[in-house]
Amino acid sequence: MKIVKTIAEVRAQVKEWRAQGLTVGLVPTMGYLHEGHASLIDASHRDNDRTVVSDFVNPMQFGPTEDLESYPRDIDHDAALVEAHGGDLIFNPEPSEMYHEGFSSFVDMTVLTQELCGLSRPVHFRGVCTVVSKLFNIVKPDRAYFGKKDAQQLAVIRHMVDDLNMDIEIIGCPIVRESDGLAKSSRNTYLNEAERKAALVLSQAVFLGANMVRNGEKDCSVILDAMKAHISAEPLAKIDYVKMVDCATMQQIPELDRPALCAIAVYIGKTRLIDNFFTEDV
Ligand code: PAF
Repeated sequence: MKIVKTIAEVRAQVKEWRAQGLTVGLVPTMGYLHEGHASLIDASHRDNDRTVVSDFVNPMQFGPTEDLESYPRDIDHDAALVEAHGGDLIFNPEPSEMYHEGFSSFVDMTVLTQELCGLSRPVHFRGVCTVVSKLFNIVKPDRAYFGKKDAQQLAVIRHMVDDLNMDIEIIGCPIVRESDGLAKSSRNTYLNEAERKAALVLSQAVFLGANMVRNGEKDCSVILDAMKAHISAEPLAKIDYVKMVDCATMQQIPELDRPALCAIAVYIGKTRLIDNFFTEDV
C-alpha cells in the first residue's frame, strides 16, 4: 500500500495498472477513516482489482464559519485502515496540489442542491462537485463509492455523472452505525460524553420515523412532527432540518406517494450531525 501526494504519482500508478488490464475503484474521503469508510473500501476491493482512497480535507466545501481548521486528521491511522481493508493507494494531496494559484473552474449544480444541507451550507455542494470531478479526472476509476449517510451528496454525484457524461459507475453503500445506533462519522469525535449520549436522538428519530412508515403512515407531517418532538426533548439538540423529500428531486413532499428520503441534520452542542432513511429501505 502506497501513500502519494501528487497528481502525477497517482496518474503514473493508475497508468501502470491499466497497462496490465486491471480495473480501478475510487473511495473519495476526507480522512480520519472509520468503519463507514472501511465498508466503502471493502466494497471497492470486492468489485475492482485495485482501490485508490483519496484522503483530502477539501477546503472548498467548507463555509467560512465551519470546521475546516478543526476537522480531524490522522494519516497514519488512515494508512493502517486502508491497508487492512485491501486498499492499494492513498492519494493525500496538499490543498495547493488540488487548487493551484489562479484556480477558477467550478462544477456548480442548480438542482438537488437547493434543499436540505444545501440550504444551511450554501457553498458545500459546489465544493463537493468540483473536488469529486477533479478526483474522477485524476484517477479515472471504473467505479466510485459513496456512503448513503450523505444521501443528498450521493444523489448530487449521481446527477453530476449523468449530466456531464462521466463514464464511472457510482455505488452507494449502506450507513454503518455504532452498536447503539449512532451513524459513524468523523465528526463524532467532537462530542464530549454528555453530547455523545445526546447524539443518540438522531438515530432514535430515524428509527421512529422508519417504523411509522413501515406501519403504513403516509402523511409526512405526522411522521416529521413525531421525529421533531423526539429530538426537541433532548436539551443539547438543536434541529437544523427534519424533512421528507422526493428521492429524485430532493424537493419536500406532503405525502408518501413516491420513493422518498427522510433526512435530518441536528446540532448537538456545536457539532452538526446528519442521518436519514430511504422509505424504499424500510
Ligand atoms: O463525503 C466526503 O467525505 C466528502 O464530501 C468527499 C466526497 C470526499 C468530497 O470531499
